Amino acid sequence: MTLAIETCGLTRRFGGRTVVQALDLQVPKGAVYGFLGPNGAGKTTTLKMLLGLIRPDGGRALIDGIDVSADRMGAARKVGALLEAHGFHANLTGRENLEITRRLLALPRTETDRVLEVVEMRPDAHRRVSDYSLGMRQRLGIARALLGSPPVLILDEPANGLDPDGIADMRAFLMGLPARTGATVLVSSHLLNEVEQTATHVGVILAGRLAVQGALADLTARIAPGLEVEVDQPVRARSLILARGFDLEDGEALSVRLRPGDDARTAAAKLNRALVESGLEVFALTPRRPSLEALYRATADQNRLPGAGKEAA
Ligand SMILES: Nc1ncnc2c1ncn2[C@@H]1O[C@H](COP(=O)(O)OP(=O)(O)OP(=O)(O)O)[C@@H](O)[C@H]1O
Ligand SMILES: [Mg+2]
Repeated sequence: MTLAIETCGLTRRFGGRTVVQALDLQVPKGAVYGFLGPNGAGKTTTLKMLLGLIRPDGGRALIDGIDVSADRMGAARKVGALLEAHGFHANLTGRENLEITRRLLALPRTETDRVLEVVEMRPDAHRRVSDYSLGMRQRLGIARALLGSPPVLILDEPANGLDPDGIADMRAFLMGLPARTGATVLVSSHLLNEVEQTATHVGVILAGRLAVQGALADLTARIAPGLEVEVDQPVRARSLILARGFDLEDGEALSVRLRPGDDARTAAAKLNRALVESGLEVFALTPRRPSLEALYRATADQNRLPGAGKEAA
Protein backbone atom coordinates (compact mmCIF):
# COMPACT_ATOMS: atom_id res chain seq x y z
CA MET A 1 0.00 0.00 0.00
CA THR A 2 1.46 3.33 -0.99
CA LEU A 3 0.80 6.07 1.49
CA ALA A 4 0.12 9.69 0.59
CA ILE A 5 0.37 10.74 4.23
CA GLU A 6 2.06 8.88 7.05
CA THR A 7 2.87 9.92 10.58
CA CYS A 8 4.92 7.94 13.08
CA GLY A 9 4.56 8.75 16.77
CA LEU A 10 3.58 12.34 15.97
CA THR A 11 3.33 14.26 19.24
CA ARG A 12 2.67 17.87 20.19
CA ARG A 13 2.48 19.59 23.55
CA PHE A 14 1.13 23.02 24.44
CA GLY A 15 2.40 24.21 27.79
CA GLY A 16 2.60 21.05 29.85
CA ARG A 17 -0.33 19.43 28.05
CA THR A 18 0.02 16.78 25.35
CA VAL A 19 -2.68 17.52 22.77
CA VAL A 20 -1.49 15.10 20.08
CA GLN A 21 0.00 11.89 21.38
CA ALA A 22 2.06 9.36 19.41
CA LEU A 23 -0.19 9.56 16.37
CA ASP A 24 0.34 6.97 13.61
CA LEU A 25 -1.77 8.07 10.65
CA GLN A 26 -1.81 6.08 7.43
CA VAL A 27 -3.57 7.64 4.48
CA PRO A 28 -3.41 5.50 1.33
CA LYS A 29 -3.01 7.16 -2.06
CA GLY A 30 -6.34 7.94 -3.69
CA ALA A 31 -8.28 7.83 -0.41
CA VAL A 32 -10.78 10.29 0.94
CA TYR A 33 -9.68 9.97 4.54
CA GLY A 34 -12.12 11.27 7.14
CA PHE A 35 -10.20 12.52 10.17
CA LEU A 36 -12.82 12.47 12.88
CA GLY A 37 -12.91 13.72 16.40
CA PRO A 38 -14.84 15.92 18.80
CA ASN A 39 -13.95 19.57 19.43
CA GLY A 40 -10.50 19.93 20.94
CA ALA A 41 -9.41 16.38 20.03
CA GLY A 42 -6.29 17.60 18.24
CA LYS A 43 -7.37 17.55 14.59
CA THR A 44 -6.26 21.05 13.59
CA THR A 45 -3.02 20.68 15.56
CA THR A 46 -2.27 17.47 13.63
CA LEU A 47 -3.06 19.07 10.27
CA LYS A 48 -0.83 22.05 11.08
CA MET A 49 2.05 19.66 11.78
CA LEU A 50 1.42 17.91 8.46
CA LEU A 51 1.62 21.29 6.77
CA GLY A 52 4.79 22.26 8.61
CA LEU A 53 3.03 25.24 10.21
CA ILE A 54 3.90 24.06 13.72
CA ARG A 55 6.66 21.73 14.82
CA PRO A 56 6.03 18.39 16.43
CA ASP A 57 7.61 17.68 19.83
CA GLY A 58 8.13 14.11 18.77
CA GLY A 59 7.69 11.73 15.86
CA ARG A 60 7.58 12.61 12.21
CA ALA A 61 5.23 13.23 9.31
CA LEU A 62 5.70 12.20 5.69
CA ILE A 63 3.80 13.72 2.79
CA ASP A 64 4.13 11.71 -0.40
CA GLY A 65 7.27 10.21 1.12
CA ILE A 66 8.84 13.56 2.03
CA ASP A 67 9.68 14.23 5.68
CA VAL A 68 7.99 17.49 6.66
CA SER A 69 10.61 18.41 9.28
CA ALA A 70 13.58 17.64 7.01
CA ASP A 71 12.20 19.26 3.86
CA ARG A 72 9.38 21.61 4.75
CA MET A 73 9.17 23.31 1.35
CA GLY A 74 9.43 20.06 -0.57
CA ALA A 75 6.56 18.62 1.45
CA ALA A 76 4.54 21.84 1.17
CA ARG A 77 4.75 21.67 -2.62
CA LYS A 78 2.86 18.37 -2.47
CA VAL A 79 -0.08 19.78 -0.50
CA GLY A 80 -2.99 22.12 -0.98
CA ALA A 81 -4.77 23.07 2.22
CA LEU A 82 -7.89 24.66 3.58
CA LEU A 83 -7.57 25.67 7.23
CA GLU A 84 -9.99 27.28 9.67
CA ALA A 85 -8.75 30.81 9.06
CA HIS A 86 -8.69 31.48 5.32
CA GLY A 87 -6.77 34.72 5.46
CA PHE A 88 -8.45 36.09 2.34
CA HIS A 89 -8.31 39.80 1.62
CA ALA A 90 -11.94 40.82 2.10
CA ASN A 91 -11.71 43.91 -0.11
CA LEU A 92 -10.29 41.98 -3.07
CA THR A 93 -12.32 39.80 -5.41
CA GLY A 94 -12.25 36.03 -5.34
CA ARG A 95 -10.14 36.01 -8.48
CA GLU A 96 -7.67 38.58 -7.14
CA ASN A 97 -7.22 36.51 -4.00
CA LEU A 98 -6.45 33.41 -6.05
CA GLU A 99 -4.11 35.40 -8.28
CA ILE A 100 -1.94 36.27 -5.27
CA THR A 101 -1.34 32.61 -4.53
CA ARG A 102 -1.02 31.66 -8.21
CA ARG A 103 1.80 34.17 -8.70
CA LEU A 104 3.51 33.12 -5.48
CA LEU A 105 3.54 29.57 -6.78
CA ALA A 106 4.63 30.76 -10.24
CA LEU A 107 1.79 28.90 -11.94
CA PRO A 108 0.45 29.67 -15.44
CA ARG A 109 -2.37 32.24 -15.73
CA THR A 110 -4.88 29.63 -16.89
CA GLU A 111 -4.61 27.94 -13.51
CA THR A 112 -6.88 30.47 -11.76
CA ASP A 113 -9.76 29.88 -14.17
CA ARG A 114 -9.24 26.16 -13.97
CA VAL A 115 -9.66 25.99 -10.18
CA LEU A 116 -12.56 28.46 -10.22
CA GLU A 117 -14.22 26.10 -12.66
CA VAL A 118 -13.67 23.06 -10.43
CA VAL A 119 -15.43 24.71 -7.48
CA GLU A 120 -18.05 26.32 -9.74
CA MET A 121 -17.14 29.82 -8.64
CA ARG A 122 -16.46 31.45 -12.00
CA PRO A 123 -19.70 33.45 -12.03
CA ASP A 124 -18.80 34.98 -8.65
CA ALA A 125 -15.06 35.41 -9.18
CA HIS A 126 -15.37 39.16 -9.88
CA ARG A 127 -17.17 39.84 -6.58
CA ARG A 128 -15.41 40.97 -3.44
CA VAL A 129 -14.78 38.30 -0.83
CA SER A 130 -16.46 40.55 1.77
CA ASP A 131 -19.72 39.95 -0.14
CA TYR A 132 -19.32 36.17 -0.21
CA SER A 133 -21.43 33.80 1.81
CA LEU A 134 -19.62 31.41 4.11
CA GLY A 135 -20.14 28.59 1.63
CA MET A 136 -18.60 30.65 -1.16
CA ARG A 137 -15.60 31.41 1.03
CA GLN A 138 -15.15 27.71 1.72
CA ARG A 139 -15.27 27.00 -2.01
CA LEU A 140 -12.77 29.72 -2.73
CA GLY A 141 -10.55 28.23 -0.04
CA ILE A 142 -10.75 24.87 -1.76
CA ALA A 143 -10.03 26.49 -5.11
CA ARG A 144 -6.87 27.96 -3.62
CA ALA A 145 -5.92 24.53 -2.25
CA LEU A 146 -6.31 23.10 -5.77
CA LEU A 147 -3.91 25.57 -7.39
CA GLY A 148 -1.07 23.67 -9.02
CA SER A 149 -2.91 20.33 -8.72
CA PRO A 150 -1.11 19.09 -5.60
CA PRO A 151 -1.28 15.31 -5.08
CA VAL A 152 -2.50 15.78 -1.49
CA LEU A 153 -5.36 17.94 -0.24
CA ILE A 154 -5.79 18.70 3.46
CA LEU A 155 -9.13 20.24 4.32
CA ASP A 156 -9.94 21.24 7.89
CA GLU A 157 -13.70 21.06 8.46
CA PRO A 158 -14.75 22.24 4.99
CA ALA A 159 -18.42 21.87 5.92
CA ASN A 160 -18.02 24.19 8.91
CA GLY A 161 -20.77 26.76 9.15
CA LEU A 162 -22.57 25.61 6.02
CA ASP A 163 -26.34 25.16 5.90
CA PRO A 164 -27.79 21.72 5.06
CA ASP A 165 -27.82 22.52 1.32
CA GLY A 166 -24.26 23.75 1.50
CA ILE A 167 -23.21 20.61 3.37
CA ALA A 168 -24.87 18.40 0.76
CA ASP A 169 -23.08 20.32 -2.01
CA MET A 170 -19.76 20.03 -0.19
CA ARG A 171 -20.30 16.31 0.30
CA ALA A 172 -20.94 15.70 -3.39
CA PHE A 173 -17.97 17.86 -4.24
CA LEU A 174 -15.58 16.01 -1.91
CA MET A 175 -16.71 12.62 -3.13
CA GLY A 176 -15.92 13.60 -6.70
CA LEU A 177 -12.54 15.17 -5.89
CA PRO A 178 -10.21 12.15 -6.23
CA ALA A 179 -11.75 11.24 -9.58
CA ARG A 180 -11.63 14.85 -10.78
CA THR A 181 -8.19 15.77 -9.55
CA GLY A 182 -6.42 12.49 -8.83
CA ALA A 183 -5.62 13.83 -5.38
CA THR A 184 -5.65 12.08 -2.03
CA VAL A 185 -7.93 13.97 0.35
CA LEU A 186 -7.57 14.25 4.11
CA VAL A 187 -10.66 15.92 5.49
CA SER A 188 -11.28 16.60 9.16
CA SER A 189 -14.73 16.73 10.65
CA HIS A 190 -16.67 16.25 13.84
CA LEU A 191 -19.79 15.36 11.84
CA LEU A 192 -19.92 11.59 11.74
CA ASN A 193 -22.54 11.08 9.11
CA GLU A 194 -20.79 13.62 6.94
CA VAL A 195 -17.62 11.56 6.83
CA GLU A 196 -19.51 8.30 6.61
CA GLN A 197 -20.99 9.38 3.32
CA THR A 198 -17.85 10.75 1.73
CA ALA A 199 -14.88 8.83 3.08
CA THR A 200 -13.20 5.64 1.92
CA HIS A 201 -11.06 5.56 5.07
CA VAL A 202 -11.43 7.02 8.55
CA GLY A 203 -9.32 7.76 11.57
CA VAL A 204 -10.90 8.72 14.87
CA ILE A 205 -8.88 10.91 17.23
CA LEU A 206 -10.00 11.21 20.84
CA ALA A 207 -8.10 13.42 23.30
CA GLY A 208 -5.03 13.42 21.07
CA ARG A 209 -4.85 9.67 20.53
CA LEU A 210 -5.83 7.69 17.48
CA ALA A 211 -8.70 5.50 18.68
CA VAL A 212 -9.32 3.66 15.44
CA GLN A 213 -8.25 3.81 11.81
CA GLY A 214 -8.87 1.87 8.65
CA ALA A 215 -10.91 1.37 5.50
CA LEU A 216 -14.49 2.36 6.19
CA ALA A 217 -15.85 -0.95 4.90
CA ASP A 218 -13.54 -2.92 7.23
CA LEU A 219 -14.47 -0.79 10.20
CA THR A 220 -18.21 -0.95 9.70
CA ALA A 221 -17.91 -4.73 9.31
CA ARG A 222 -16.63 -4.78 12.90
CA ILE A 223 -19.73 -3.11 14.27
CA ALA A 224 -22.63 -5.31 15.19
CA PRO A 225 -25.59 -4.77 12.87
CA GLY A 226 -29.09 -4.72 14.30
CA LEU A 227 -32.74 -5.47 13.58
CA GLU A 228 -35.73 -3.41 14.64
CA VAL A 229 -38.68 -5.66 15.40
CA GLU A 230 -42.30 -4.50 15.33
CA VAL A 231 -44.94 -6.96 16.54
CA ASP A 232 -48.39 -7.00 18.11
CA GLN A 233 -47.19 -8.49 21.41
CA PRO A 234 -43.86 -6.91 22.32
CA VAL A 235 -43.66 -8.40 25.80
CA ARG A 236 -44.00 -11.97 24.53
CA ALA A 237 -41.70 -11.20 21.63
CA ARG A 238 -39.03 -10.03 24.05
CA SER A 239 -38.84 -13.36 25.86
CA LEU A 240 -39.08 -15.33 22.61
CA ILE A 241 -36.19 -13.39 21.10
CA LEU A 242 -34.02 -13.87 24.18
CA ALA A 243 -34.97 -17.57 24.32
CA ARG A 244 -33.65 -17.94 20.75
CA GLY A 245 -30.27 -16.68 21.92
CA PHE A 246 -30.46 -13.17 20.46
CA ASP A 247 -29.34 -10.09 22.39
CA LEU A 248 -31.62 -7.10 22.82
CA GLU A 249 -30.59 -3.49 23.25
CA ASP A 250 -31.78 -1.76 26.40
CA GLY A 251 -34.87 0.36 25.96
CA GLU A 252 -38.52 0.24 25.01
CA ALA A 253 -38.17 -0.71 21.36
CA LEU A 254 -37.36 -4.27 20.30
CA SER A 255 -33.89 -3.75 18.96
CA VAL A 256 -31.98 -6.96 18.30
CA ARG A 257 -28.22 -6.69 18.51
CA LEU A 258 -26.50 -9.07 16.11
CA ARG A 259 -22.86 -10.08 16.20
CA PRO A 260 -20.26 -8.40 14.00
CA GLY A 261 -20.31 -10.12 10.63
CA ASP A 262 -23.82 -11.55 11.13
CA ASP A 263 -26.08 -11.27 8.12
CA ALA A 264 -29.10 -9.22 9.12
CA ARG A 265 -31.29 -10.81 6.40
CA THR A 266 -30.64 -14.36 7.57
CA ALA A 267 -31.28 -13.33 11.17
CA ALA A 268 -34.51 -11.57 10.11
CA ALA A 269 -35.80 -14.70 8.39
CA LYS A 270 -35.01 -16.83 11.43
CA LEU A 271 -36.61 -14.38 13.85
CA ASN A 272 -39.65 -13.94 11.66
CA ARG A 273 -40.30 -17.67 11.56
CA ALA A 274 -39.90 -18.00 15.34
CA LEU A 275 -42.28 -15.12 16.03
CA VAL A 276 -44.93 -16.17 13.52
CA GLU A 277 -44.82 -19.80 14.64
CA SER A 278 -45.52 -18.61 18.18
CA GLY A 279 -48.64 -16.84 16.95
CA LEU A 280 -47.38 -13.25 16.89
CA GLU A 281 -48.17 -10.76 14.16
CA VAL A 282 -44.95 -9.40 12.69
CA PHE A 283 -45.43 -5.90 11.28
CA ALA A 284 -41.84 -5.17 10.38
CA LEU A 285 -38.27 -6.40 10.70
CA THR A 286 -35.95 -3.59 9.71
CA PRO A 287 -32.19 -4.11 9.40
CA ARG A 288 -30.22 -1.32 11.04
CA ARG A 289 -27.16 -0.47 8.97
CA PRO A 290 -23.99 -0.49 11.05
CA SER A 291 -23.03 3.15 11.26
CA LEU A 292 -19.82 4.96 11.85
CA GLU A 293 -21.63 6.62 14.71
CA ALA A 294 -21.82 3.23 16.43
CA LEU A 295 -18.09 2.75 15.91
CA TYR A 296 -17.36 6.21 17.19
CA ARG A 297 -19.48 5.61 20.28
CA ALA A 298 -17.93 2.22 20.85
CA THR A 299 -14.41 3.69 20.74
CA ALA A 300 -15.45 6.68 22.83
CA ASP A 301 -16.92 4.34 25.47
CA GLN A 302 -13.81 2.21 25.43
CA ASN A 303 -11.66 5.24 26.02
CA ARG A 304 -13.81 6.44 28.86
CA LEU A 305 -13.93 3.02 30.53
CA PRO A 306 -10.54 1.40 30.07
CA GLY A 307 -10.85 -2.36 29.72
CA ALA A 308 -14.64 -2.27 29.59
CA GLY A 309 -14.89 -2.40 25.80
CA LYS A 310 -14.93 -5.68 23.98
CA GLU A 311 -13.88 -4.59 20.56
CA ALA A 312 -13.85 -7.31 17.93
CA ALA A 313 -10.29 -8.06 16.94
N1 LIG B 1 -1.63 27.49 20.09
C1 LIG B 1 -2.15 26.79 21.10
N2 LIG B 1 -1.79 27.02 22.38
C2 LIG B 1 -2.29 26.31 23.40
N3 LIG B 1 -3.18 25.32 23.25
C3 LIG B 1 -3.59 25.02 22.01
C4 LIG B 1 -3.10 25.75 20.87
N4 LIG B 1 -3.68 25.22 19.75
C5 LIG B 1 -4.50 24.24 20.19
N5 LIG B 1 -4.44 24.11 21.53
C6 LIG B 1 -5.17 23.13 22.34
O1 LIG B 1 -4.96 21.86 21.80
C7 LIG B 1 -6.15 21.09 21.87
C8 LIG B 1 -6.48 20.56 20.48
O2 LIG B 1 -6.86 21.65 19.66
P1 LIG B 1 -7.21 21.49 18.13
O3 LIG B 1 -7.47 22.85 17.60
O4 LIG B 1 -6.16 20.69 17.47
O5 LIG B 1 -8.54 20.64 18.21
P2 LIG B 1 -9.56 20.24 17.04
O6 LIG B 1 -9.69 18.76 17.09
O7 LIG B 1 -9.16 20.86 15.77
O8 LIG B 1 -10.92 20.88 17.57
P3 LIG B 1 -12.14 21.58 16.76
O9 LIG B 1 -13.04 20.49 16.33
O10 LIG B 1 -12.79 22.43 17.82
O11 LIG B 1 -11.56 22.39 15.65
C9 LIG B 1 -7.22 21.96 22.46
O12 LIG B 1 -7.34 21.67 23.82
C10 LIG B 1 -6.66 23.35 22.27
O13 LIG B 1 -7.08 24.20 23.30
MG1 LIG C 1 -10.03 22.23 14.53
